[in-house]
Amino acid sequence: MNKRFILIVLLLLSFYSCKEMQKDRQPDTSRSLTETHRPKFHFTPAAAWMNDPNGMYYLGGTYHLSYQYYPDSTVWGPMHWGHATSRDLVSWEEQAVILYPDSLGYIFSGSAVVDTQNTSGFGSKDSIPVVAAFTHHNPEGEQAGIQDFQYQSLAYSLDKGYTWTKYEGNPVLKNNTGIRDFRDPKLVWHAESSQWIMALAVYDRVQFYGSENLRQWQYLSEFGIEGDTRLWECPDLFPLKVADGEETKWVLIVSIQQQGPNGGTGTSYFVGDFDGTAFTAESRQQWLDWGADNYAFVTWDNAPVDQSRRLGIGWMSNWQYAQEVPTEKWRSAMTLPRELTLHRADDRYYLKSLPVETLSKLRSAETKISPEIISKKKELQGNFLVSQSEMQLLIDLDKTTANEFGITFSNEEGEVLKVAFYPAENLIRVDRRQSGPEGFSDSFFKGPHTAPLQMQGGLLDLQFFSDVTSLELFALEGALNFTDIFFPSSPYSRVTLWSKQGDLVLVGGRVYGLNSFRGDPWP
Ligand code: FRU
Repeated sequence: MNKRFILIVLLLLSFYSCKEMQKDRQPDTSRSLTETHRPKFHFTPAAAWMNDPNGMYYLGGTYHLSYQYYPDSTVWGPMHWGHATSRDLVSWEEQAVILYPDSLGYIFSGSAVVDTQNTSGFGSKDSIPVVAAFTHHNPEGEQAGIQDFQYQSLAYSLDKGYTWTKYEGNPVLKNNTGIRDFRDPKLVWHAESSQWIMALAVYDRVQFYGSENLRQWQYLSEFGIEGDTRLWECPDLFPLKVADGEETKWVLIVSIQQQGPNGGTGTSYFVGDFDGTAFTAESRQQWLDWGADNYAFVTWDNAPVDQSRRLGIGWMSNWQYAQEVPTEKWRSAMTLPRELTLHRADDRYYLKSLPVETLSKLRSAETKISPEIISKKKELQGNFLVSQSEMQLLIDLDKTTANEFGITFSNEEGEVLKVAFYPAENLIRVDRRQSGPEGFSDSFFKGPHTAPLQMQGGLLDLQFFSDVTSLELFALEGALNFTDIFFPSSPYSRVTLWSKQGDLVLVGGRVYGLNSFRGDPWP
């Protein structure tokens, strides 16, 4: 009797502690999401640490976004996969955590595919499996200094992605390369050779593996740049039709841990061919985004777009300071979801990225900006909040005589974010050195950040998305992207166009206030 009593108590205790664990990992929807630095239309987890986007696919009307997540802290730790869903890439709903660390290690970055033909055998004809490949990272092995502490594993879902089962045959790809960094598997179907391809970051290169069933993998080839010894992470590989043409090329995205375009981490890409075995680059390495804060950008599998478009998202931070930024309940946001298209100029292929069109759903009032010649300063005013807006401007560079012009965002506290253009030097400078209180990180306040303007005369189109703690600039119809974050004491409330030593010729523009997708009232 006594023993039975003890057993029941133990069972109850374990039941409640499991429930407690479950509850801990449910999204915190009770909390107010209107903290000072909380973005209004970018995805952030309600609480805790987030980094790279992972396991992204579209199925049955829903976009799934998983991410590196540590629910117990606002700094990096034992990695889980958090999960959020959206029907339009605009409104996000945080879901329960889907993958937890286990005896094989933490759950590092990876991808997911909709296995329509059930090649994996995890599902059936009536139940299409979604299969995720991720890196198991064994922290004890890492500390012990062994070579093979990172290996690739699978999990699958038979309910479109809300609950997942880890494959009992994990890991499916062990590391016998002798290279310690061996991670971030990205899966893509290669129709011509009827096989799955896994692109894997292996220190300073990408390795490709092939499989017919996602369970057994064969090494195919590797791709790197002669003399490049930087750490590569989070690759992505996909075909894309060149805009206005019949040609299809393959894009290989690679995130780079050091010496990003403005220090620290950044996302780059190559355009070339993939023949089922090897990738050959036809264009040099290019930056996907020139700002400091777009890392680990990867794309959605199975998205409902034609072959000339690809949808993706990045982590809007930089490893240089990501763990120190002054948000309290959560850390990091994702960039706006972007649509990539492929273009050709002379003998160079390049990507354009623009925010997804559905974002226009968030627009409230429109303020028209009339043509004007600005010889000093002009504050843009209208029915919008500067810190929650989309701004489109068209500038005539042929008629502009200023040798420097730009746009400044500022608040009552005198904190400023300055975006300056230097047409003669063919340069953009984004200066966040006085963007908010200093002190949380030295590297954050270094600068200014620069990007080539890549334009001689003509009409310069600029599109700015400002969301409390971030500015995303899309220029030249998306050929130039710039994403930077900042943390002002209070949201920027003024936006001013200015010119120095000459005129700025503004052809026109418009500003839209943007609503929060959570429906928060305007302050
Ligand atoms: C990139 C990265 C990945 C790794 C993950 C760990 O930001 O370092 O290479 O899988 O973060 O959280």
